[in-house]
Amino acid sequence: MTQTLSLADLRKNYALGSLSETDVASSPFDQFRLWFEQALAARLAEPNAMTLATVTPDGRPDARIVLIKGADERGFTFFTNYESRKGQELAATPYGCLLFHWIELERQVRIEGRVEKVSAEESDAYYHSRPVGSRLGAWASVQSAEVADRTIIEQREAEFRRQFGDAPPRPPHWGGYRLAPDAIEFWQGRESRLHDRIKFFRLADGGWRVARLSP
Ligand SMILES: Cc1cc2nc3c(=O)[nH]c(=O)nc-3n(C[C@H](O)[C@H](O)[C@H](O)COP(=O)(O)O)c2cc1C
Repeated sequence: MTQTLSLADLRKNYALGSLSETDVASSPFDQFRLWFEQALAARLAEPNAMTLATVTPDGRPDARIVLIKGADERGFTFFTNYESRKGQELAATPYGCLLFHWIELERQVRIEGRVEKVSAEESDAYYHSRPVGSRLGAWASVQSAEVADRTIIEQREAEFRRQFGDAPPRPPHWGGYRLAPDAIEFWQGRESRLHDRIKFFRLADGGWRVARLSP
């Protein structure tokens, strides 16, 4: 028998943790590292997957998931095809928003800022650390372009494998971006929807102002 699914009745109470102005780290990067380590320790499925939101030239939002590959005081790094849809959107409007949802920990982290390409050396270093299949895939895929069928992609992959063997160079259209945050919000679910939201705003002197937001 089929049961009617009532989306309106799906809800969960959040009670695992709390976050306050006094126990949050003084640097949002330290707070991010702490929560990321806790997400790793909790053995979540792909805690390194984050939604990247960008904007189209006519002001429409767009979003997809990418993997975080670095986090330090300069910002948050991911790798992709510079000519993909996201690459074209970032070329026109170099701002993005990153979102992590660590559902089992009842946490969300929201990061806003300007996005820039990382250096060629940094892209080279990461590209050459990847398995050869992924390195060839970066050549084979004209990311986000329409393609008539899958065999065309597989044929391109085979051609590049013949051309480069096990040592493909980094494609010029493939590399990293770094989002340098000007705001980071940490969200911890609480009971009765009275969640904790602690937001860091970057100051002109490079320091951070911390504020609590209403849930
Ligand atoms: C879990 C997961 C991880 C992904 N990681 C990446 C990534 O690191 N880089 C990337 O370019 N695409 C990644 N993708 C694919 C993107 O979501 C997206 O399909 C692709 O980048 C094309 O996006 P665009 O057309 O907006 O440019 C990932 C998808 C999933 C579901």
